[in-house]
Amino acid sequence: MAGEDFYLITNLLCMYFYHHVSGISFRRLQESDLPKLCQLRADSWQDTHSSVVPSLEQEKEWYAKLTDSDLILVGKSNDEEIGIATFHKIDHFNKNLLIGGYLFNEARARGYAKDAFAAGVDFSFEYLGMHRIYAEVLESNKKALMLDLGYLGFKKEGVKRQHIFKCGKWLDSITIGMLYDEWANCERVKSYEGRCCGSEIRTT
Ligand SMILES: CC(C)(COP(=O)(O)OP(=O)(O)OC[C@H]1O[C@@H](n2cnc3c(N)ncnc32)[C@H](O)[C@@H]1OP(=O)(O)O)[C@@H](O)C(=O)NCCC(=O)NCCS
Repeated sequence: MAGEDFYLITNLLCMYFYHHVSGISFRRLQESDLPKLCQLRADSWQDTHSSVVPSLEQEKEWYAKLTDSDLILVGKSNDEEIGIATFHKIDHFNKNLLIGGYLFNEARARGYAKDAFAAGVDFSFEYLGMHRIYAEVLESNKKALMLDLGYLGFKKEGVKRQHIFKCGKWLDSITIGMLYDEWANCERVKSYEGRCCGSEIRTT
């Protein structure tokens, strides 16, 4: 399939998607979400690679620069918006992307993290047709490492030593990745026969 066709289909599918395993639905981020995103970035600053907490103006500039290689989705469960899933550097030729996930503060420590992270992974392989997905996690982010390497089955691929300076400390940045076969053959996905996202695809 030609790259442009793929972008078109991706854009249509990503207006709304439903992860039937968890009941979490996703819609595209809109400009009106930016104040909430600002707060989310402030709440998550300690665990991420960002040097600064962006202002609303900076957030708007960031939003305006998003391209076809970026997809940002807002997740919702039981009528409550719970967080953001990010897909950057989407490369349809080599079929890989950089994935990230953040829960809103009010949604943390309520058991959403596993399902929400799994939904982002399933979406990448099942809908976007990726061959490899990867993420960068700070060594200090024990929860994310436990979720990604433990629960989801990412593999540790490399370490950027002392890559980030945060709160007076040099921190390693750990690159983790997952291949399509590893995803398709994990017990969680096999039990759903690789159809975690279900068939409820809406374009509005
Ligand atoms: C990472 C994040 C999604 C986790 O969500 P959460 O609701 O706070 O996480 P939970 O309390 O449900 O814990 C999730 C899992 O992490 C692990 N965990 C929790 N606390 C932990 C700790 N102190 N040390 C190690 N692992 C821990 C457990 O495996 C837990 O699963 P459990 O249900 O079996 O207990 C959330 O904290 C967040 O949005 N952080 C900011 C953004 C971020 O770090 N994103 C990842 C960047 S790649």
